[in-house]
Amino acid sequence: MALVFPFDPDIRRASTIPARLYVDPVYLELERERVFAHSWQLVGRIDQVAETGQFFTAEIGNDSIVVLRDGDTLRGFYNVCLHRAGPVAHGCGKRQTLQCKYHGWTYTLNGELLRAPEMEGVERFTPEDMRLRPVAVDTWGPLVFANLDGKAAPLADFLEDIPARVAPFRCESMRYVMRKEYELACNWKVYVDNYLEGYHIPVVHPSLHKEIDYDSYRVEPHRYSSIQHAPLRPVPSASAASAERRYDPSRAEVPEAVYGWIFPNVMLNVYMGQMQTNVVLPVAHDRTVVVFEWFAANPPADPATDSAWSRLVAFSDEIQDEDVEICETVQRNLRSRVYDRGRYSAARENGVHHFHSLLHEFLT
Ligand code: FES
Ligand SMILES: [Fe+2]
Repeated sequence: MALVFPFDPDIRRASTIPARLYVDPVYLELERERVFAHSWQLVGRIDQVAETGQFFTAEIGNDSIVVLRDGDTLRGFYNVCLHRAGPVAHGCGKRQTLQCKYHGWTYTLNGELLRAPEMEGVERFTPEDMRLRPVAVDTWGPLVFANLDGKAAPLADFLEDIPARVAPFRCESMRYVMRKEYELACNWKVYVDNYLEGYHIPVVHPSLHKEIDYDSYRVEPHRYSSIQHAPLRPVPSASAASAERRYDPSRAEVPEAVYGWIFPNVMLNVYMGQMQTNVVLPVAHDRTVVVFEWFAANPPADPATDSAWSRLVAFSDEIQDEDVEICETVQRNLRSRVYDRGRYSAARENGVHHFHSLLHEFLT
C-alpha cells in the first residue's frame, strides 16, 4: 500500500485526503513520527511551573517529556533516564533535583547527572558528560508548548498572527479555571477537519447558528496556523429572540470570537473575557481524546456552582455533543467500501484544505 498520496494545492481542483489516512493504523505511526514530533504541542500551563523546581510531565506521540522551572528558565527534557530508560519524573510536583524512579540516579534541574550510586569502577563513565536530552519549550499567554524537533521553527512562527489578533482580549492575564476531557471514537483528523470549517454550523449546530453571523464567517489560513472569524449576530433589542441569545455583541469590548488553530492539533478559542484551549490527542487510529481547558479574565470562585459559568459550559457541552456525534458517524462512514475522497467547498472549506496540505507536506 502506498503511504504517499496525491494532493492538489488548488482547492478548486483538489480532492480531500484518502479515507485510508483515517482508518488505517499505519498512518498514526507515521503521523507521530513526522507530524507530532516536529510541531509545537500544547503541554501545560505557566502556573504549573511558576516556581523553581516545579515540574509537570506530558506525552508527545510515543515520547514522555518533563517540563520544569529552573530559576528564570523554563526547561524541557525527555523523561528518559540515561541509565536504563527509567522515568525521571512522574505527574507533577516540586523538587530541587530529578531522581529516576528506577535505580535512583539523580539529575540537576538543568539536566546534568548529579549522582549515580554504586557506579565505582565502571570504565569510560563520565557523569559530567551525561545530560538528559533536551526538548524545546516556549510559552504564549498562560500556555506552555514543547517541540521534540530541535531544528523546528520557533513557536512564534507557528502562532504567526494569532497573538496580534487576540491581543485585545488580553489572554496573558487570564487565569486557569477548569479542564474537561472528551473521548471520541474517531480519528484525530476527523475532529480537526470538523473544527476547521463553519460550513457545518447551520445543519449540525442550530443554536450556535443563532449566535453568529454565518454570512460573514471566514477562515484565514497562514503558514502553520489559521484564524476563523465568527462575528456575532446583533441582538434585536427587546424582542423575544433576544431572550434566548447567549452573547450580546453590543455589550462586548470586542464583538467577535476568534478561533485560532495551530498545526496540527491545538485550538485557541478566544471570546470576551475568556479563552478555551482544545488539544486533540490521538489515542489510536480510531480513538481520540480532546482536552478542553478554560481560562478567564475574572475566574469564578467556584466554577461548579457559578451559574453564569455553568451556562457557558453547558452551551459548550451542547456544541461538543453535536460535534462528537457527527465525527463518530463520519469515522464509521470513512470505512465504507464506496467512499475514498471527497471535494472541498472553495468558499467554506479553505481551512480544511490548508490542514490537509500541511499534512501532505509533513507526511510525504
Ligand atoms: S533507569 Fe534510571 S537509574 Fe536506572
Ligand atoms: Fe462543530
